[in-house]
Formats: sequence, structure tokens, C-alpha cells
Amino acid sequence: MPCPVLTIDGPSGVGKGTVAKILARELGWHYLDSGALYRIVACAAMERGVDLTDGAALAVVASDLDVSFDLIGPDGEVILLAGHDITAEVRSEACSRGASIVAARPEVRAALLTRQKQFRQLPGLVAEGRDMGTVVFPDAALKIFLTASPEERALRRHKQLNQKGLGVSLSALSQQMQERDQRDSSRAEAPLVAAADALQVDTTQLSVEQVVAVIRDLAKKVAYLR
Ligand code: DC
Repeated sequence: MPCPVLTIDGPSGVGKGTVAKILARELGWHYLDSGALYRIVACAAMERGVDLTDGAALAVVASDLDVSFDLIGPDGEVILLAGHDITAEVRSEACSRGASIVAARPEVRAALLTRQKQFRQLPGLVAEGRDMGTVVFPDAALKIFLTASPEERALRRHKQLNQKGLGVSLSALSQQMQERDQRDSSRAEAPLVAAADALQVDTTQLSVEQVVAVIRDLAKKVAYLR
């Protein structure tokens, strides 16, 4: 039997990171924050003075990332690059914007594809992002696609950034998220779209606990996720 994978895809601010981490912890599975990989490529490229539209140079940056994710607390995460904690840096607005630009480059996506597949290790993997169910793990046992209204997503992201001390205005954030969503959904390569066999969950009116409960119930119906 192949190593089981639960994929959770959706747009930014939908809460997929929070629920993915809780479920990974509950199941005792590995966790892949694929968005962080794109963020790290953008951060590293900016640090090295690499042009964010130079696909070939970005692919080199993407190919040698020594990255790992440590889960801490109920839904916290530490992102390590070569053992160095870069968690706060990758969440900055500059890296978020850069991530959405580099994510549109096919060379970057190709370089990160192998890297992402390597996270699939026993006893299982919870993978979150935009194309986990469509491109990276098309044979996943359970594919979830989370949605929420744009207003609710902006509010959630605003709260999350404020908690991390990264204050931004709600209207500016809302505008930036719309631009990123547009770029993520309209790109030619692996655009943000639900897999045909993904189960869609509208989280606008649901708490984190309720979303986790819905996915947990769906997971119980898939024999080897029990
Ligand atoms: O989920 P996030 O906000 O950390 O993602 C950062 C950017 O990376 C976002 O613009 C979409 C992109 N991304 C992607 O193209 N494919 C993924 N699997 C995950 C993220």
C-alpha cells in the first residue's frame, strides 16, 4: 500500500495551514507546507540578488534548499533553512508577494516537485498548498479543497499577521490578497483549482475546530486514514 497522503488545497487566508497542522499532529503524520517552499525560494532569491522573473536562476535556488518544518504547540510551526529559524522572515509581505511571482515560473515548480514528493514518508503525510491534489499527489487518498469568502479570508490573515506582530492595514492586505489570488488562479502552470475528485468545504461560517471535525469525519470514511 502506498504511503497515505491527505491533501488540503485552497486560496490564501482560508485556514488550510492551521487545520493541516492540527490534523498532522492528530494523525502523527508528516507535514508539508508547500507555500513555505515558494516563500523560501523568493526570500533566498531576493537575498542573493536573483531576478524574480529569471526562471533558470530561480530553479538553481529552488534545487538546493535544505529546508525542514518542525511542528510546535497545537498549530505552530518552525521553518528551518540549513538549521536556521526563518519562520518570521518567510511570512513577511515581501516574501509573500515574491512567492506568488516565483510560483508562476514553470522552472521553479519543476524544481520543487521532486522536493515535495520526498515529504511522502510513512506513516503518512498531510500536504497543504494550491496544487497538492492536482499535481504533486494526484493519487492522494483524500483531497480537500477549502474555500471562504474573500472578506473572511482577509480578516483571518489580518488577525494572524497581527498576532505575529506583523501589523498591516486590512484594506491594503485585502488588496494584496486579491492580487495574489488573481496571479495564483490565472497562471498557466498548476493554477489554483480544485482537483476533480476533491471534496470542497466552505469554511466561511466554520470555526477551526469545526473544519478539523469535518475533515476528520471525511478521513474516517477512507479506510487507511483511520
Ligand atoms: O500558502 P502560502 O500563502 O504560503 O503560499 C505562498 C505562495 O505560493 C502563494 O502565492 C501561492 C504559491 N503556492 C503555489 O503556487 N503552490 C503551492 N502548492 C503552494 C503555494
